[in-house]
Order: sequence, then C-alpha cells, then structure tokens
Amino acid sequence: MLSFGTDVSLSNPVDLRVQVGALRLNNPIITAGGTFGYGAEFAHLVDLNRLGGFVTKGISKEPIEGAPAPRLHETPSGMLNAIGLQNIGVEAFVRDKLPLLRKYNTHLIVNVFGYCLDEYVDVIRRLEEVEGISAYELNISCPNVKRGGMQFGSDPEQAREVVGGARKAAKSRPLWVKLSPLVSDIALIARTAEAAGADALTVANTYPAMAIDVRSRKSVLGNTTGGLSGPAIKPITLRLVWETRKAVKIPVVGLGGIETAEDVLQYMMVGASAVQVGTASFADPRASEVILGGLEKALTVVKALGINEIKDKFLIENG
Ligand SMILES: Cc1cc2nc3c(=O)[nH]c(=O)nc-3n(C[C@H](O)[C@H](O)[C@H](O)COP(=O)(O)O)c2cc1C
Repeated sequence: MLSFGTDVSLSNPVDLRVQVGALRLNNPIITAGGTFGYGAEFAHLVDLNRLGGFVTKGISKEPIEGAPAPRLHETPSGMLNAIGLQNIGVEAFVRDKLPLLRKYNTHLIVNVFGYCLDEYVDVIRRLEEVEGISAYELNISCPNVKRGGMQFGSDPEQAREVVGGARKAAKSRPLWVKLSPLVSDIALIARTAEAAGADALTVANTYPAMAIDVRSRKSVLGNTTGGLSGPAIKPITLRLVWETRKAVKIPVVGLGGIETAEDVLQYMMVGASAVQVGTASFADPRASEVILGGLEKALTVVKALGINEIKDKFLIENG
C-alpha cells in the first residue's frame, strides 16, 4: 500500500489531462453510468466542471419504470443493485435534462440502452439531432433486464450487430461500448466491438449476483438477482482491463470498485486511458471530486510528473 501522506510538495501542478480517442479530458475521472443520476442531481455536491466527464444513466427509446423495490443492497465490500434501467426515455431526456446538462464545461457522455437493436439505433439517431453531447456509451452489458443488455454483450455475433448498427447511427460522435465482465474471453468481445466500429471500450459493468434474507427466505432484491459492484469486484475487473488493453488498439476506460487515487493509478497502469467512479458515489456523493483531489499527491508519491507517465506502466514493464 502506498502512503499518500501530506508531506509531499505540490508546488508544480501535475498534468492530469488524458486523451480517450478524439476526446481530450482535463483529467481521467468520469462518473459512471447509472450511479450519478442524469448528472445535475449531484451539481450541488460536486463541481461537475472539475470532472473529466460524467456519464448519464442509461437512456432508452421509451421511458422505463424499472425493477420492483428493493433495488439496492449492501454486501461485504460491495453493493447489489437491480434498478432495471429506470429512466425517462430519450424524448424527455432531450427536452427536460439536456438543456441544463450541456451547460457544464466538461464532457457529457450519454449511456444508451435498448431492448433490441433498433431501439439502440433510434436513441442514437434522436441524440444526433441535438447539441452538447461528447460521446455515446453503449450499454450492452446490463445484467438486470431480461431482454437486451448482457444478451448483446456476451454473444460476439449480437455484439457485432448492435455495435455496427450504433456505429452507422452515431455519425458525429465517438461511440464507447461498455462490456460485460461475465464472458469467458473478454478479448474476443473486445476485438469484435473494435472491428464493428467502437471508438473506445468501457470495462466493465456489474457481475450478476444475489443475496438471500434467511428469515423471509426471499431475495434481498425485488428483481431476485442483481449486479455486484464496488471494491469487491476491483481485482477481477482490473485483470479484465489489462486483458482488454492487450487485445485492442482503441482506448479502454476502466471501472469497478474505484474508491481512491491509488485505485485510479492501478487501472491506468494496466492500460486504462481514463476511469469511472460508480458505487463510491453512494458512500460519499463527493467521491469523484475527492478522488480527483488525491490524484496529484498520488502521482507525486510514485514520482510521476503527469498522469500519462503512469499509463500502461505495468504493461510496458511486465507485458
Ligand atoms: C445503482 C447502479 C446503477 C447502474 N446503472 C447503470 C446504467 O444505467 N448503465 C450502465 O452502463 N451501467 C450501470 N451501472 C454499472 C456502473 O456504471 C458500473 O459499471 C459498475 O457499478 C462497476 O463500477 P463501480 O464498482 O465503481 O460501481 C450501474 C451501477 C449501479 C451500482
């Protein structure tokens, strides 16, 4: 464990800027899809302008009511969720949310979800008509819906179809594809998404999981099963980011259990170009900004003058 004590000189500001394909980010910290509302809900707690970017919750063609309660459950070092992609639908998003969101001086990435290929394409086509979005993130990895989601992300043929369709629709903006961690060979799906036109890969979504209340003999979640996130998944997802980085040429955005600046360095050392902070925002809504605040000091401790010095460091030294 590194020590990030307060005795480190910060007289020369460290360069935190990173590049994810065509996007230049002021720093690598992005808040993760579905864990930060539409974004504006956190504006009184987090200075959104300071973040590298923020991802909206999944936006679908029609509004989705979501899964029955309870939807969240804390587990040792983690959290189970089954939200069921509740959202207001693309039309209301464009009308009611986007006018405010586009005013922030950071990257707005819209997470896109569909129950079938055409729905993914329809959402992107509608978003192509409006200003103020930096990129799309295609969620082909949600474990909490019966149709769509993980079904697309775990079958290479379906992944190729949905990414290819979204690629054609996303004429003006980068397309990030968010992968499922529950695949036997992430390199195969990663290469498939790259060949179908993804500009970056987000690795990864939650792990299908469950917990039982022994008194009621029922699941703790209304949906019975959910997705596991938080520090419990970090070592598993870190490996997936490393495997993905070795498999493709396009950038990888890493996430899973990030809680500290040191976690960010770990993800970037195995090849992430930027990271996302998810469950940590539930424990502390200001987590993304706090992690960002610790980054300069963490880099100084590892004697790096800029964030790009540590990127791929593990890969370069160890393969
Ligand atoms: C409550 C909750 C809602 C989520 N909703 C979405 C979503 O709408 N779209 C998506 O791509 N991922 C969604 N995710 C997955 C997260 O973006 C992230 O991939 C996952 O939680 C792992 O990161 P973490 O351990 O930092 O939370 C959700 C996660 C949680 C905990």
